[in-house]
Amino acid sequence: LPTYPFEHHRYWVDADVANNGKPSLRATLRKRHDVSTWFSTPSWQRSAAPSAPDAGAAGTTMIIGDGARLVDLLTARLAGQGEHVIDVRFGSHFQSAGAGRYVVNPGRADDWVELIAALTSNATLPDRIVHVTALGRRRGQRRVGRRDPIEALQATVATDHASVLFLAQALSGLSHPIRMTLITSGVHSVRGDAQLMPERALLHGAWRVIPRELGHVDGMAIDIDLPAPSSVGEVVLVDRLAREIRGQADDDVVAYRDGQRWVRRFEAVALAPAGVSPWRSDGVYLITGGLGGIGLSIAEHIATVAPGATLVLLGRTPMPPAHQWPALLATPTIDPALARRLAAVQRMQRSGCSVMLPAADVTDIAAITAVVADVQRSHGRITGVIHSAGILRDALIALRTPTIVSPVVDVKARGLLVVDQVLAKHPPELLVLCSSVSSIIGLPGQFDYTAANAFLDSFAAAKNEEGHTRAVVVNWNAWQEVGMAVDAIKVAVARTDTVEPTTESSVHLFDSVTDDGTTSVRTSRMSRRRNWLLAEHAVHGGDALMPGTGFVEILRSAATADDPGNGPVELRDLFFLSPFTVLPGEVRTLQVKHDRTTSSLVVFSETETMPHVTATALPAEGTAQPRVDLDAVRSRCHDRFEEFDGYSNQPFMDFGPRWGNLRRVDYGAGEALITTVMPVEFESELQALWLHPGLLDMAIGSAQAIVPGFSEAETFYVPFSDGRVLAHAPLPATAYSHVRLRDTSAADLAVFDITICDETGLGIVEIESFTMRRVPPGPSLTARRAEPHHSDPPAGESPIETALREGMLPHEGVDALDRLLAADIGPQVVATSVDLEQWIAKVDSEASGIDSGGDDASGTSAQYER
Ligand SMILES: NC(=O)c1ccc[n+]([C@@H]2O[C@H](COP(=O)([O-])OP(=O)(O)OC[C@H]3O[C@@H](n4cnc5c(N)ncnc54)[C@H](OP(=O)(O)O)[C@@H]3O)[C@@H](O)[C@H]2O)c1
Repeated sequence: LPTYPFEHHRYWVDADVANNGKPSLRATLRKRHDVSTWFSTPSWQRSAAPSAPDAGAAGTTMIIGDGARLVDLLTARLAGQGEHVIDVRFGSHFQSAGAGRYVVNPGRADDWVELIAALTSNATLPDRIVHVTALGRRRGQRRVGRRDPIEALQATVATDHASVLFLAQALSGLSHPIRMTLITSGVHSVRGDAQLMPERALLHGAWRVIPRELGHVDGMAIDIDLPAPSSVGEVVLVDRLAREIRGQADDDVVAYRDGQRWVRRFEAVALAPAGVSPWRSDGVYLITGGLGGIGLSIAEHIATVAPGATLVLLGRTPMPPAHQWPALLATPTIDPALARRLAAVQRMQRSGCSVMLPAADVTDIAAITAVVADVQRSHGRITGVIHSAGILRDALIALRTPTIVSPVVDVKARGLLVVDQVLAKHPPELLVLCSSVSSIIGLPGQFDYTAANAFLDSFAAAKNEEGHTRAVVVNWNAWQEVGMAVDAIKVAVARTDTVEPTTESSVHLFDSVTDDGTTSVRTSRMSRRRNWLLAEHAVHGGDALMPGTGFVEILRSAATADDPGNGPVELRDLFFLSPFTVLPGEVRTLQVKHDRTTSSLVVFSETETMPHVTATALPAEGTAQPRVDLDAVRSRCHDRFEEFDGYSNQPFMDFGPRWGNLRRVDYGAGEALITTVMPVEFESELQALWLHPGLLDMAIGSAQAIVPGFSEAETFYVPFSDGRVLAHAPLPATAYSHVRLRDTSAADLAVFDITICDETGLGIVEIESFTMRRVPPGPSLTARRAEPHHSDPPAGESPIETALREGMLPHEGVDALDRLLAADIGPQVVATSVDLEQWIAKVDSEASGIDSGGDDASGTSAQYER
């Protein structure tokens, strides 16, 4: 369920080349329509400890420890093997204590930045990092007594979990390869005998995401049981851990129990439809997030198969009182989400269920205590809890706000502990936790979502071991039609691709401006859907490409923005340095900077140092407009003529309606006269966009046939520079463009002078030394034009769109839930409509920079351009 918009440029060669014509791995991630094949469960398998690395392989290891005995032993062991060990401990503030010893405040992001800066300046950046602070007793637990799990969670979030985030953020600016090992105790139930501390699973979840995003980092997480001090087992374990830290094992989730090494695998389990329904008509079910997509689907399902059950659907948003529902449902403007909820609740009630809709925050213990008391008073004991409350806040590690607060972890982890605590005296028979495959795969952008789901996974095992409640955690993949994945797409679409109608907004080139009096910077968020400038000018079958004339009008608009009269302007020394392309579904920011002191203009996207276009702007007030003797030009251009219905006959570009303005070209010797007529529906745009890009493009580029050797089917010119563009007034709807070929002496360059005039011959726009560069039809234009493999995802599809397309329908999801509850195959069950192993392989290959073939939707951190 990756919702972060990993829209980036793709520099990989095409799928059919990279993959010998085989479909990409992404294309093989296809929905399995037989629900019985969707399931797998974790299975721990014995594995040999890695062999001792060569003595010569010593390097620098940074150990982040928190005073545990094992940390000292490990430090001594690694140092004894010739490793240079850097010792980092938690304290109140950053300190360099000398001799490779540092103190950091784990919850202060700046301390981690200072630490990495200090290591960089001392040339001691580690080759290996070991994080070993979540070991032994619960954080803050004294020798005697049980720490309140909620407090333990908060303490772990504020120290260990925060330290992982801030460390990863500090490392995200490096490129130095680092192998990172996380060592914890109490996270995995390997043999069912460990005392579990699910809050530590947060670290395991988060740890999985780091290598997904930081291409230079490799990560493994090890859960251990602590041997008795000074025992043989302790010596063995320290030796094994030192080997893991210095080794190259591929396993990323490992456990040590009694010195023996275990690795986690997932075993497929075929599950037939449930024979007996797991839901009881006399059951009382509390569903947190019960009015959300999955919660409501499960509630409706229970109402269908167990009519008479009590359904308590908890969410923060209060529902309108019942007496208002008929009127609300009859209102045409009702919010569709509310209508869906009200209608669903009415159906449940009609099937004989009692439905309660308390509004409360699941993390608020007082509120949940009141809700539970109310339910118990009116309906007796709560027999089942489905924890389906959750939120998404996806962002890359490097872009996350450096704060220890995580609302995502709060709702899932703290919310669960609150419910658990409130029900402690009367525990439910059944507890179902809605987790995600993200905790297993570690999806980029989901640092805290993955952590929160890993918490649920560990909690289910811990709860089962307590023995009062049957706890089952389900690692779902995306649900179609309902829920947060669907909502995330809606938000992404709203955020990225707001379609603007062809009204006055279609002449607005800029979304925002900053101006310090000397320099102005105008910014546009550009997408194909939003900007006709891109949508109507696409390389045939491929990317939208900002037309050169689009840049010219952007420069003119920026240069004249100070002038309320939008007066004449002269652009000089205009260089087209790099193209600006936009993929379907992509949004790119384009900026134009105008320095009034130097009159310089720069158009850039990512960075000003890599501009797309540069130019100088000069006022041209009072400059005389030239006269073109149209009759004389016509009489010279009588060699031949072509007439058009708006569009030229070229095979390279897909033009939109604003480009449909070409009427006629008359050819002479080294000169031509182009006639353009703006379609009437776009005429109004000419006043605001003096150099209307659609019109100007046709007016200056449609006479390339005057270049000797030109072939319509094979020759393609792109703009290279303009010596001078002088705009006296807006282009007229009917324009005549007198094009003169000045020079073709340089190989592959053609230079033109152009005057565009109105019907009377009055010069409106003068262009001198318009230089075009010939590009070969082929790689540069057609790189993205290869026909997609028949099973490849649609071009421009984001990972979440793919995930949703291959996701499960609500009726399949509840069917899967029934099957796995009826089967009783363990506390953790993966239920995913696509193959888990293939998915992991795909994400692994992307993280290691090996494109498995044509996946252009996600990849290594190096690919995350924006
Ligand atoms: N949908 C998927 O594709 C998918 C896939 C894998 C796993 N999951 C997991 O399945 C669970 C349900 O997902 P969903 O798709 O049904 O999400 P959803 O449609 O967004 O529903 C989640 C519900 O949780 C409620 N909620 C959020 N914060 C809360 C809080 N602090 N206290 C009480 N209620 C709260 C929200 O209601 P209010 O805003 O009114 O509080 C919302 O109705 C989530 O935990 C999610 O991580 C979903």
